[in-house]
Amino acid sequence: MKQSIKTIALSATILAAIGCGSAPEEKTTEKETVVAEKPAEPTGDATKGQALYATCATCHGQKAEGIQAMGAPALANQETYYLKQQLQNFRTNKRGTHEKDAFGAQMQPFAKMLDSDGINDVAAYIKTMPAATIASTITDGKVENGKNYYNMICGACHGAGALGIEALFSPKLVGVQDWYLERQINNFREGIRGTVEGDTHGAQMQQIATSIPDDQTVKDVIAYINSLQAE
Ligand code: HEC
Ligand code: HEC
Repeated sequence: MKQSIKTIALSATILAAIGCGSAPEEKTTEKETVVAEKPAEPTGDATKGQALYATCATCHGQKAEGIQAMGAPALANQETYYLKQQLQNFRTNKRGTHEKDAFGAQMQPFAKMLDSDGINDVAAYIKTMPAATIASTITDGKVENGKNYYNMICGACHGAGALGIEALFSPKLVGVQDWYLERQINNFREGIRGTVEGDTHGAQMQQIATSIPDDQTVKDVIAYINSLQAE
């Protein structure tokens, strides 16, 4: 009984967070207007981006495959819209400013070296790199539990197969190193990420993360995401 009340409350939170519940007609019109007025998304110059990426390679690797010893995740496997979103977040102090965010603090100065054109260019270059193969490091998660929890809670925003949903600004989770997923989920749970004013998308994720019951559930969900990578 307790569990089901919690689930219902959580579902309402998810629906509110992803903007469901308003009249569908109204929403469509609103969206169409926005699309019509929105200028074309700048694509970025991969050649200029390659020069900029030289600095990034020290931590993220020559092939943007990520370097665990530096705490820096693979970028080659992530979607462009999300890479740009995070670079903007670091640049505008929405991410990497919390006193306990040691890894975010290492990343932040490099995002601040880029302007919006630079972000588009470096993201365009990263897009040219083939997806990196990643290894699993978390071995004590229960895939079946993780699958159930993922489908109940996470799938609404991160999509089936954990591929991310651009319209919801949510990242791909499959193909991201498990040690990085764990750190980020725990950062959200502890309010190290997603609590700065103006970080709308981070706040949505943060709200969900605080409802994850325990560390084992985090490991279980990650084990499930790892199993998708193996498929
Ligand atoms: C000094 C090491 C270092 C350098 C240099 C560096 N990064 Fe990072 N980067 C990190 C670390 C560490 C993280 C993880 C931060 C965290 O845990 O929140 C990160 C995170 C990121 C993220 C967020 C990824 C995600 O999925 O959340 C992006 C995007 C990124 N870096 C892009 C870049 C780009 C582009 C450059 C070059 C302009 C760069 N980084 C240079 C260390 C670095
Ligand atoms: C209400 C929608 C929503 C739900 C439900 C949700 N997320 Fe998210 N998640 C997001 C958004 C949006 C972001 C991007 C936040 C940002 O821009 O900083 C995100 C970011 C993340 C990140 C950071 C990845 C990275 O590379 O930086 C992880 C990990 C994550 N979510 C895992 C989960 C897991 C696991 C669940 C289920 C327990 C879940 N999310 C449920 C919307 C959601």
